[in-house]
Amino acid sequence: MQSVVRLYPPAYDIRVEEIPVPTIEHPDDAIVKVKLAGLCGSDLHPYRGTVEGLTEPSVCGHEFIGEVVALGANFHPGATGRPNLYATLKVGDKVVSPFTVSCGECHHCRVGFTSRCVESRLFGTPHTPGGQAQYIRVPHAGGTLYNLQGISTASVGPDEETKETIGKLADSSLLLLCDILPTGVFAAFQALNHPKTLPMLTSRPYPQSSGGALLESVAVPLKREDKVLTIAIVGLGPVGVCACIALLDMLYARDIEFRIVAIDPTEIRRKKVEAIYARISQAYGKQQNGHLEVSDITASKEVVTKWTQGVGCNSVLEIVGNTSALSLAYELVRPFGCITSVGVHAARPVPYTGQQLYDKNVSLDFGRCPVRAMFPMALDLLLRRQDVFGEVGGETSLVEKIVGFDVAAKTYDDFDKGRCGKVLFDPWK
Ligand SMILES: NC(=O)c1ccc[n+]([C@@H]2O[C@H](COP(=O)([O-])OP(=O)(O)OC[C@H]3O[C@@H](n4cnc5c(N)ncnc54)[C@H](O)[C@@H]3O)[C@@H](O)[C@H]2O)c1
Ligand SMILES: [Zn+2]
Ligand SMILES: [Zn+2]
Repeated sequence: MQSVVRLYPPAYDIRVEEIPVPTIEHPDDAIVKVKLAGLCGSDLHPYRGTVEGLTEPSVCGHEFIGEVVALGANFHPGATGRPNLYATLKVGDKVVSPFTVSCGECHHCRVGFTSRCVESRLFGTPHTPGGQAQYIRVPHAGGTLYNLQGISTASVGPDEETKETIGKLADSSLLLLCDILPTGVFAAFQALNHPKTLPMLTSRPYPQSSGGALLESVAVPLKREDKVLTIAIVGLGPVGVCACIALLDMLYARDIEFRIVAIDPTEIRRKKVEAIYARISQAYGKQQNGHLEVSDITASKEVVTKWTQGVGCNSVLEIVGNTSALSLAYELVRPFGCITSVGVHAARPVPYTGQQLYDKNVSLDFGRCPVRAMFPMALDLLLRRQDVFGEVGGETSLVEKIVGFDVAAKTYDDFDKGRCGKVLFDPWK
C-alpha cells in the first residue's frame, strides 16, 4: 500500500489515504517512486470545483520527480525506431515528468506541440492518478519522461562545467521543470516571437519586420518610442513569477528597450516579485535597458496609460485563469497587440465579442504548455537562475517550503487563499 493525496468532488475536500501501489499495465509503462511532488495553481481548479464533469475522486498532482522502480516489456536495449528512452531508460534512473503524457511518436509530438499529443492525459485526474503519491504509473513513459541521468547531453551544452552544475541541482529545483518553469518560458517565448511584436524587436515596420515585404514602407521611420516594448504580466503566482524571470532573461539578452508591469491583487505575491526583480536586475547590472514595475490591478491601468500615452501594451501575458484576468488583458492590450494566455479556463465564455477583438486587431493565444518540447530552454534558465530556483524558503526563492502529506489539506487551503507561494510535498516525510 502507499500514501496518496486525494481530492473528493465537488470541492475543497482533500484526504490522505492508503491505496495499492500501481503496477505495470501496458508494456510502455514505467512506475516511478516519487521523491517530491508539487502543488500547482492547476490543482486549484478541481479543488475549487470549477472543472465540469468531475464526479470521481482522484489522486492529485501533476508535478513529480523520482526514481524508476519498474519498466514495461517495451523497454529494452533493442528498442529502435521509437523515442530513445525505450532503449536507454533503466530501473534506478532519476526522472522528471511533464504534467501531461506525450507519446513522442504522433504528428503533434514530432513537430513539438507535445501538449496536444493524441495520447495526451493530464496527471491528477480520475483516469490518470497523479504525483502527490508515493508511487505513480507513467503511461507512454518512453515519450513522456525526461531522464535526468542523461541530462548532460541536453541542448544546454554538454561541457564539463554544465554537467557538474546539473549534477548539483537540488530535486526541489529540478521539479520546477515539470510544469511551471517551462510554462513561464512558453508564455514569454510566445509573446516575443509573435509577428505583431517583431516591429519593436527588429526596428522595422510591419510586415517588413517579419521579412514579409521587399518594398520600403511609405511611412516615416520608426521613432524611439515606437520601439519600446510594453508588456503586462497578469497574475504573479508561481507561474507568473517564472514568466517574469523568463521575459527579463530574453529581453536582457536581446538588448531591447522595454517596460513590464507585473500585476496581482495579492500583496505577498507582489512583494515576492519585487524581491526577485531587485535581485535579478542587480545581477544584470549595467546591461539593463528597461525595467519592471509591480502593481495592483487598478494602478496597472494608470501605469500603462502613462507609459504609452494611452496606446496600451504590445503583449499581455494572462497567467491567472479567470474571466476578470482576461478582461483586464483586453483593457491593457493595444491595437495589433497580443494576449498570450496560459491560465486554465473553465467553461465560461471568453469575456469579449468577435467585434471587440476585430476592432482592436487583437491576437489571442491560448493553451497548455508543450513541456516536453520547452524542456531544454527551461533547463537552460534553471541553471542560470539558481538565485531564484535553487534554494527553498529564501526571500527570492520560488519554492517556499517542503511539507509532508500530514498537512496536505491545510496547504491546499493556504495556497488557494494566496497565503503561501509554491509548496512541494515530500511523500515520505
Ligand atoms: N497553460 C499551461 O500549460 C499551464 C501550466 C501551469 C499552470 N497553468 C495555469 O496558470 C495559472 C496560474 O498558475 P499558478 O500556479 O501561478 O496559480 P496561482 O493560483 O497561485 O496564481 C494565480 C495568481 O493570479 C492572481 N489573480 C487572481 N485574479 C487576478 C486578476 N484579475 N488579475 C491579476 N491577478 C489575479 C492571484 O492573486 C494569484 O496570485 C493557473 O490558471 C494554472 O492552472 C497553466
Ligand atoms: Zn502545474
Ligand atoms: Zn504524441
